[in-house]
Amino acid sequence: MPFIGEFTPPGDKSVSHRLVLMSLIAEGEMLVQGLSDCEDVRTSLNIFKALGGKCEAEAKGLRFYGLGGKWAPPENLELPCNNSGTTIRLLMGLLAGKPGRYILDGDLQLRRRPMERVAEPLRLMGAKIETTLGRPPVQIEGQSLVGIEYKFSEASAQLKSAVLLAGLSAQGPTRVSEPHASRDHTERLIGYFGGDIEVQNLEMTVKPSRLTLRKFFVTPGDPSSAAFFLVAAAIVPGSRVTAQNLLLSRGRSGFLRVLDRMGAMVSLTMVSDTPEPTGDVTVTYNGPLVGTEVGAEDIPSLIDEVPILALAATKAQGRTVFRDVHELRVKETDRLMSIRHQLGALGARLNSEGDDLVIDGPTSFMLPGELDSGADHRLAMTLSVALKAAGAKVPILGRESIAVSYPEFDEHLAKLWRPAP
Ligand code: S3P
Repeated sequence: MPFIGEFTPPGDKSVSHRLVLMSLIAEGEMLVQGLSDCEDVRTSLNIFKALGGKCEAEAKGLRFYGLGGKWAPPENLELPCNNSGTTIRLLMGLLAGKPGRYILDGDLQLRRRPMERVAEPLRLMGAKIETTLGRPPVQIEGQSLVGIEYKFSEASAQLKSAVLLAGLSAQGPTRVSEPHASRDHTERLIGYFGGDIEVQNLEMTVKPSRLTLRKFFVTPGDPSSAAFFLVAAAIVPGSRVTAQNLLLSRGRSGFLRVLDRMGAMVSLTMVSDTPEPTGDVTVTYNGPLVGTEVGAEDIPSLIDEVPILALAATKAQGRTVFRDVHELRVKETDRLMSIRHQLGALGARLNSEGDDLVIDGPTSFMLPGELDSGADHRLAMTLSVALKAAGAKVPILGRESIAVSYPEFDEHLAKLWRPAP
C-alpha cells in the first residue's frame, strides 16, 4: 500500500526546546502556537517550571512568562533531563553563569552520552562544572563568566548553543566557530529576541545582551519527524505525501536534497521566512531511487535523518555512502551500530568502513521474528516505516520510545498509509 495524503508534522523539537529554555533568561511574554508535545520538550518545560517559570494554556497555544534569568539561587537543585541531550547541554550553558548549584541528570541512555565536550569550553569561560567520568550527572556551581574564542572540532548545534547561551551573560564577546554548518536555531532566536549576535559563515560572535520574548510565535513543523513519511513516499510505489508548514532552513533540510539527488520528486512551496524559513513539501514516488554519496560537510544538516535515509538507501539501486558519521555513535544509542544491526536483520547489506556507513541496494526484505530499536525513537520509527513498506507485521522492541520525539507518529501513519484512491 502506498503512503498518500497531507499532514501537519508536530512543532519542531529543536526550536521548541529553545523557546522553552530561552524563556528562562528572556524577559516579556510570548504566546507559542504548536510547541512540540513530545517527551523531550516536556522535560525542558518541567525544568522551566522547576526554576519558577510560568506558562499557561490558552485557546491558541501556551503563554510563556519570561523569567529574565531571575530565580532564587538554589542549593543542589536536581533537574532531571530524562532522555534529552538538547535539554542537558543547553542548560549547562544557560546555568553556568547563574548563581546557585544545580545537578543535571538523565536516564540510562543520557548517562552514557559525553558531556565534557560542553563542559570544556564553559570552563574556559570560568564555569565550575563537574561531570561524572565525562557523563551525567553534571554538577554546576554558577559563576560569573568571561567571553572566549573557541573552535569546535565537531559540528554540533548542542555544543555551539551551550557556549552562545553562556556568552549572553559573560563579560566581553564570545566567538565560536564550527567545522561544518550545524542547525542555527539558537543564533536565529538570539537575534529574533533582540540579542547581540553576528554570524559570518561558520563563525558566530555573541555579546552580552538581554533577550525579550516576542508576542506571538508559530513553531514550524519538525522536518526530522516529517522525514519518516516523506522518505516513505520516495520508496513505496504510488505514494505522494505533503508535509505542511515544515521548517526548511539549510541546516535541517539536507535529507530533502539527498532524496532529490537519489531521484525522488521533491517540490517545495515556501510560506514564510522569519525567524525560520518554512514551507510545504511534497514528495512523490518517481521510480526506484539510485544510490548517492553524502559528504561529511552535509551530515550535520541531516544527522537525525540518517536512519530513515539509510532505509531509503537499502531500496536504492547501487551504493550509498554516508561519510564520517561518527557522531551517530553518541546519540540515544550507538546509532551507527543499531542501523547496521536492525536493517541488517531485515536482510539489507550495510557496512561501516571506519566512520563511513556504506549501503548496497536494492534489497528486498526478509522478516525476522522481531526487531529491536534499543529504545531509540528514530530507529523505532525507521523500522516501523520499513515494515509498512514491506507490508509486514513484526514486533519492534522499544517502540514506545517514539513518544520521545513524535507522539503523533501512529496517528499520522494510520492517516497516510492507505490504499490508493
Ligand atoms: C539538536 C542537535 C543535534 C540533533 C539533536 C538535536 C539540537 O545534535 O542530533 O537531535 O536541538 O541542537 P548535534 O549536537 O549533534 O548537532
